[in-house]
Amino acid sequence: MERDLVQGDPEVGMEVASHEGPWGLTGRRVILTGALGGIGQTIAAAFRGAGANVLLTDLPDASTAGESLAVSGFARSAYVACDITSAGDVRTLFDRAAEFFGGPADIVCAHAGVVGSHPLTEYPVDAFDDLMTVNLRGSFLVASEAARRWLAAEAPGVLIFTTSWVQDVPWPEIGPYSASKAAVRSLMRTFARELAPRGVRSNAVAPGIVGVGMARRQWDSDPAYRSRAQRAIPLGRLQTPESVANAVLFLASPLSAYMTGATLLVDGGASLYPMDE
Ligand SMILES: NC(=O)c1ccc[n+]([C@@H]2O[C@H](COP(=O)([O-])OP(=O)(O)OC[C@H]3O[C@@H](n4cnc5c(N)ncnc54)[C@H](O)[C@@H]3O)[C@@H](O)[C@H]2O)c1
Repeated sequence: MERDLVQGDPEVGMEVASHEGPWGLTGRRVILTGALGGIGQTIAAAFRGAGANVLLTDLPDASTAGESLAVSGFARSAYVACDITSAGDVRTLFDRAAEFFGGPADIVCAHAGVVGSHPLTEYPVDAFDDLMTVNLRGSFLVASEAARRWLAAEAPGVLIFTTSWVQDVPWPEIGPYSASKAAVRSLMRTFARELAPRGVRSNAVAPGIVGVGMARRQWDSDPAYRSRAQRAIPLGRLQTPESVANAVLFLASPLSAYMTGATLLVDGGASLYPMDE
């Protein structure tokens, strides 16, 4: 069927007037992977602050996660443990989410990821495989399960992937990580292309060097990384997790209704040119 590109298709990325609040996310149902991580906690709080209903998921079981959930003010019922590399776990996550929300999610953030640091010539093959399994297979399993359910329910949703500024920039010792994020970006664009006619939007946020989570751990433990990173950010300060959360909220919201297949680079200019030499 020919689509009217002037009038548009009301099913595809149109404004949703019934959702109130500055982001238009009030009452929206969000699944967030990697929700207990450094950046994930801030994204979860930002969605909640915008009036969304968030289901947090991460690796630890509910009792281990209980303390961080309590600190951040989320109920245990808003948490489901899930290893995103397991297709069975991911299916269970979406079943539990449907029960929690009383229907399918509106927004799914494939945010969880891992990094490993070795020179390329010394990179252990098992570590390479493990990293690809989490970052690429895990993101694929989460996004494809979300998409299958949206298509079955004829209720389109929004996919948001987390890549990284190093998807395009070689950074010493994390070659496989960069490659995994470039692959996630490619996957995001294919989801966007294949599912746009069904009303699903798919975008990515690409953070820079954030002052929490994996970059912070390396900043604190590896002087060579720290001195390189200190020279690498044109804006001259470590990135806040709030800056990542703001981009995620924007990509989730009707404000970005005409965006699909895009990567929102939020990196303080780190990728503009190599400043780490
Ligand atoms: N911190 C940074 O500077 C930075 C920069 C660019 C991109 N990122 C990306 O942001 C995301 C979050 O990173 P972070 O810095 O908060 O790191 P983090 O290590 O604090 O958080 C990552 C979370 O992913 C979870 N996770 C790992 N393997 C999993 C699995 N198999 N199943 C389910 N969950 C799993 C971890 O338990 C953890 O809570 C990652 O995708 C990362 O690649 C981070």
